[in-house]
Amino acid sequence: MRDPRYDILFQPQAIGPLTAKNRFYQVPHCNGGGYRDPSAAAAMRGIKSEGGWGVIFTEQTEMHHTSEITPFIELRLWEDQDIPSLRKMSEAMKTHGALAGIQLAYSGINGPNFYTKEVPMAVSPGPIRTFTNDPVQARGLDKTDIKNLRRWFVNAAKRSKLAGFDLICLYGAHGFGIFQHFLSRATNQRGDEYGGSLENRSRFAREVIADMRDAVGDTMALTMRVSLDEQIGNLGFSNAELRDFIAMNGDLPDLWDLAQGTWEDCSGPSRFKEEAAQEVLVKGIRALTSRPVVGVGRFTSPDVMARMVKSGTLDFIGCARPSIADPFLPQKIEQGRIEDIRECIGCNICITGDMTQGISRCTQNPTFMEEWRKGWHPEKMNAKGDSQSVLVVGSGPAGLEAARALAMRGYDVALAEAGKTLGGRVTKERLLPGLSAWGRVADYRAYQIGQRPNVETYFESRLTADDILAFGFQNICIATGAHWRADGVARMHVAPIPGGGVPVYTPDDLMDGRLPSGRVVVFDDDHYYMGGVLAELLAIKGCEVVLITPSAYVSDWTLNTLEQGAIHRRLVAAGVKIVLNRGVTRLSAEGVQSACVYTGAEETTGCDAVVMVASRISDDQLYRDLMAREAEWGDAGIRSVKVIGDACAPGPIAWATYAGHRYARELDMPDLGDALPFRREVTALQD
Ligand SMILES: Cc1cc2nc3c(=O)[nH]c(=O)nc-3n(C[C@H](O)[C@H](O)[C@H](O)COP(=O)(O)O)c2cc1C
Ligand code: SF4
Repeated sequence: MRDPRYDILFQPQAIGPLTAKNRFYQVPHCNGGGYRDPSAAAAMRGIKSEGGWGVIFTEQTEMHHTSEITPFIELRLWEDQDIPSLRKMSEAMKTHGALAGIQLAYSGINGPNFYTKEVPMAVSPGPIRTFTNDPVQARGLDKTDIKNLRRWFVNAAKRSKLAGFDLICLYGAHGFGIFQHFLSRATNQRGDEYGGSLENRSRFAREVIADMRDAVGDTMALTMRVSLDEQIGNLGFSNAELRDFIAMNGDLPDLWDLAQGTWEDCSGPSRFKEEAAQEVLVKGIRALTSRPVVGVGRFTSPDVMARMVKSGTLDFIGCARPSIADPFLPQKIEQGRIEDIRECIGCNICITGDMTQGISRCTQNPTFMEEWRKGWHPEKMNAKGDSQSVLVVGSGPAGLEAARALAMRGYDVALAEAGKTLGGRVTKERLLPGLSAWGRVADYRAYQIGQRPNVETYFESRLTADDILAFGFQNICIATGAHWRADGVARMHVAPIPGGGVPVYTPDDLMDGRLPSGRVVVFDDDHYYMGGVLAELLAIKGCEVVLITPSAYVSDWTLNTLEQGAIHRRLVAAGVKIVLNRGVTRLSAEGVQSACVYTGAEETTGCDAVVMVASRISDDQLYRDLMAREAEWGDAGIRSVKVIGDACAPGPIAWATYAGHRYARELDMPDLGDALPFRREVTALQD
């Protein structure tokens, strides 16, 4: 039963000519699938409809071929041929009564046009602004181009309607989208009636919305996603100027969609941004317009959501990541199942699917983007197979997820944990600076298995092969994790780093409370978050820290989670000395010798200790012991033994929860042989 405190979240809300059934608004988010995997993307949106969202949007949709953002894989609406796959998506969105929205993007200064080879057009000429500093410049739009662009928006609006959408969002936030480029002095240096005063910089938005209203406005709602602040003061579009813009044009769209000026700020990870971090920039804007307002802020708490509405800050609760981590968030609030909400941990792994042109994963929701490919549902498991019992060894993210999902399938599960707490690596990592929200990976699953009568948990149970052969479980799932190696073998070094004489610590040492002191070199050849987090930890603990990495960036791979800039800034603020493009080549009593990755020029850095953030080794001895005794399985009643997660191959936490879920789904399933283990779409051939 719903808690009456949350009733307000379920009030229907008008948006232009339409009414959303509640205030839960899934703002646009990409998924790495886009035009390449239209059915996978459509099914993912369909699940959100089932989960109770009132409004569901696509990701950004390239609305004309003269502006595209290859290599990123989003949606395309370039011609009528694109309509059927988009219609599949809008139909999926509407299955349970949600309004279906499409976000139209003309990327202007952000679109390098690598695929279409068209000359990019922007509000003012200049170098294309992408993540990769592409050596391409855009030409400025002339008056004929602007006329054409207005017509292309109308064409895209008509196609959106044919594709079955109810709402159109015009993209003008995150530094992306031509509307922001017109509004911002940083990207609009025009001297004509489209540049200069705010009135002039607003002209294009007014014209496009008027054109689109004439074309589709009687049946479709038009929303505008605007930047809350570009964070470059008067050089760009500031929060004060946004307020002036909305005050001047209050009734322009049917809804204002407020989102931060850069994507890094808007999708800020939990390490750097709290829930509702954008509140201060949003507060008061609603009073400037008669139109409803949606805002975002990694909202996972229904109390915070209700406060946003009751305080008059927002009309709609915008969610991207919380809707990925738990597509059933609205339904769970409605049914009074708050403790069942699978809260987003703010790790931004979902964004890496887009950044790497793979397909997105979610640490908390392993079924994300597998709804169509594998037929996985976030709340329902497939029927139990013909065996009955499973022993899961290890309660890290993989083991916990396996136990949870196996229990849902109906197996009798025994979960054996060597330590005294559930969570494995998360138990330690959640204590590192900024990572406390990551503990939700363990907390959610620990609570869920605690509710299941068919899961028994055994602590302080470090099992041997003899133990397992004596127990009589039919299926054995080994999820015993991994440990960090101390010898520096990773990418730069295929053999241990030579020398010695200086104390060497691993990330496990630090997480177990064995901390060095004095001057410490952190050598990061892992390149994800660990090196940066440990440097921060040591600085907090009073060490003088030198972070050395062979990469050109601190925590290089976090470029994909949009936090690399914030990590660098934080380390500088903490007093960490950052040494890039150098690798540690030898250890000695004085400290470490390092070499420039380009010239080989060597230098010595004196230190009292070295922390090796290199690679990890699977803790798979138990698995190997069992495999060596396969001949005894039959007598012991064992049907299968599998190794999953870090014990199989170390990776980010999302890889582990995926592995645990996959194990649970596939237990007792027929062997697929050489067949592909998921569905995919293949480009249709044309003459
Ligand atoms: C994986 C991912 C992809 C995104 N893609 C888009 C997009 O295509 N268009 C857009 O306007 N915002 C996009 N965003 C930003 C979100 O709409 C949202 O503004 C931001 O993530 C903050 O909301 P949240 O805290 O609820 O995630 C994306 C966010 C994520 C996490
Ligand atoms: S991947 Fe991480 S940030 Fe993204 S939705 Fe899942 S838990 Fe949240």
